[in-house]
Amino acid sequence: MRRRPILKGIAALVFLGSPVSAWSLDSVKIGLVHSMTGGLAPVGKQVMAGIRLYMQQHGDTVAGKKVEIILRDDTTIPDVAKRLAQELIVNDKVHFLGVGITPVAMAIAPLATEAKIPEVVMVSGTSVVTERSPYIVRTSFTLGQQSKIIAEWAAKNGSKKTVIIQSDWAPGAEATAVFTDVYKKAGGEVLETIKVPLANPDFAPFLQRAKDTNPDTLFVFVPASQASIFAKQFVERGFDKSGIRLIGPGDITDDNDLPGMSDAMLGVVTAGLYSASHSSPMNKKYVEGIQKANNGLRANFISVGGYDGMHLIYEALKKTGGKTDGDSLIAAMKGMKWESPRGPISIDPETREIIQDIYIRKVEKIGGELYNTEIATFEAVKDPIKAAKK
Ligand code: PHB
Repeated sequence: MRRRPILKGIAALVFLGSPVSAWSLDSVKIGLVHSMTGGLAPVGKQVMAGIRLYMQQHGDTVAGKKVEIILRDDTTIPDVAKRLAQELIVNDKVHFLGVGITPVAMAIAPLATEAKIPEVVMVSGTSVVTERSPYIVRTSFTLGQQSKIIAEWAAKNGSKKTVIIQSDWAPGAEATAVFTDVYKKAGGEVLETIKVPLANPDFAPFLQRAKDTNPDTLFVFVPASQASIFAKQFVERGFDKSGIRLIGPGDITDDNDLPGMSDAMLGVVTAGLYSASHSSPMNKKYVEGIQKANNGLRANFISVGGYDGMHLIYEALKKTGGKTDGDSLIAAMKGMKWESPRGPISIDPETREIIQDIYIRKVEKIGGELYNTEIATFEAVKDPIKAAKK
């Protein structure tokens, strides 16, 4: 009998369609275009792991709105991505686009501009992407940020003659350009730049050519998911015993692939934005969360771009009080600062580009597994290509 008044109250709420009832919440739609199949499918898997963990930890309502995710697989093909983004804008009427790799982010940019919808770039590492639309904001990284730091570190640590092996697409070209510029200014010499096709690469002949050139250092950029095959062929060619130092951006010792690599990678030094062994309570929780929800998957630098992309969207919505027009949201995103599992990050209010700490890391064994141990921190690194344009 005592329950009656409460039940009546609930019935009244339902009848009046109270705004507190979950089923009456307005929704905010986030259209995601990521490479879930095709050549870079492991990238899509990692970024989605980050996105899902963020929602698991922070819930699916924000600023009084229900967050609705609509995921589309671009199959690693930019033309497919463009069509899917068009459908998300026109048919699904999404309020945000969350996108992945460089060619996809570029293909979608004019659509974001036309529709005035924020395009949150969660994977791409190519500087020019953010200049393709005033509605683009990046939560991933640029190859320049990492390549500049490793070039300075190498030159300071006795490296004089380098051969570059670069995956032949836009982020690779930028890694090479920034490394070459900074390394030369620091007194180093680039003997040769070797380009390897992006699709199904066979590094063996290129590694042989690099060895024949007789450098003291090998600078390598391969995208996430190709580090394992590169490391295998590196060892097969006897590079680990050649005295030639392997360096690069963090992609070549990707946390996703490190557990499957051999001890030959011990001691390899890279400049990266994220390490699964980054020491903070937030990262510990992050790594455990990704592992638990994805069958033991180790979190990598791609996943944090998705996690932080969701944070940017949630916080922008809080700042606008749930308003979803693109101009208000972009204004809210500019200058935002927060703690990420990777460390402190912010959005440059002038360029909408991420500013983040870059770490010098060395591959070490912890508890029987290979990890990137952070040995030096360079704080609040801006994209050097944009900085040079000023
Ligand atoms: C990119 O899309 O620019 C990209 C993807 C994966 C990487 C690096 C860059 O590891």
